[in-house]
Amino acid sequence: MTKTIGLICGSLRKDSYNRVIAQALADMDDSIKFHWIELKDLPLFNEDLEVGGDPETVKLFKTAIQEVDGIIIVSPEYNSGIPGVLKNALDWASRPPRSSVLNRKPVGIIGATPGGLGTAFSQMQIRQTLEAMQVHVLPFKKVLISQIHEKIDSNQKILTDEKTIRYLQNYLQQFIFWIDHTPNLD
Ligand SMILES: Cc1cc2nc3c(=O)[nH]c(=O)nc-3n(C[C@H](O)[C@H](O)[C@H](O)COP(=O)(O)O)c2cc1C
Repeated sequence: MTKTIGLICGSLRKDSYNRVIAQALADMDDSIKFHWIELKDLPLFNEDLEVGGDPETVKLFKTAIQEVDGIIIVSPEYNSGIPGVLKNALDWASRPPRSSVLNRKPVGIIGATPGGLGTAFSQMQIRQTLEAMQVHVLPFKKVLISQIHEKIDSNQKILTDEKTIRYLQNYLQQFIFWIDHTPNLD
C-alpha cells in the first residue's frame, strides 16, 4: 500500500532552509505520497480555546495528522531549543492526552542550520516533547545538517549536496520501515 507522510516544517520563513530539506524529501520517492502540514494559521495554544471544541484551523491540523501514516518534522533550532511555533503546534496536537492524533504515530526528526551543531539541542527537545505524547519517534537515527547554506542552491531552493541527499534517501527508507515496525506497547 502507498505510504503517506506528513511534512511539518518548524520554520515559517519564506526562504527557510528547513523547508528546502523537507521539499527534497518530498521529491525523493514517487512511490510515497507527501502532504504538507502547515503551522502558520494555528492560534497560540490556550486551554480556554478548547472549551466548546477546537478552533477550525486546529481541527484541520489534527485531521491532517490523522490522515497520514507517519510524519517527518524538519525544523531549525532557536536559542538552543525548539522553535515556538513548533512547540505550539505539538501542544495543540497533544490534546486530548492519551488519545491524541499523535499518539503512537511514527515520527522522524530532521533539522538544518547554517551553524555547526546541526540543531542537536532542538532535536533533543523535540524528541523529549514527543516522548511525553507517546509518539513513536524513529529511534537511534539522527539527521543533523550543519552549514546548510553551503549545501543548497539558494536561487532554485534545492538541495545540491550529494552526501546529504544520499543520507536523506537512506533515512527515508528507514522511516518507511519504521512505520511498518513500530512496537505494540501499552
Ligand atoms: C531567534 C533565533 C535564534 C537562533 N538560534 C539558533 C541556535 O540556537 N542554533 C542554531 O544552529 N541556529 C540558530 N539560529 C539560526 C537559524 O539556524 C537560522 O536562522 C536558520 O536559517 C533558520 O532556519 P530556516 O532557514 O529553516 O528558517 C537562530 C535564529 C533565530 C532567528
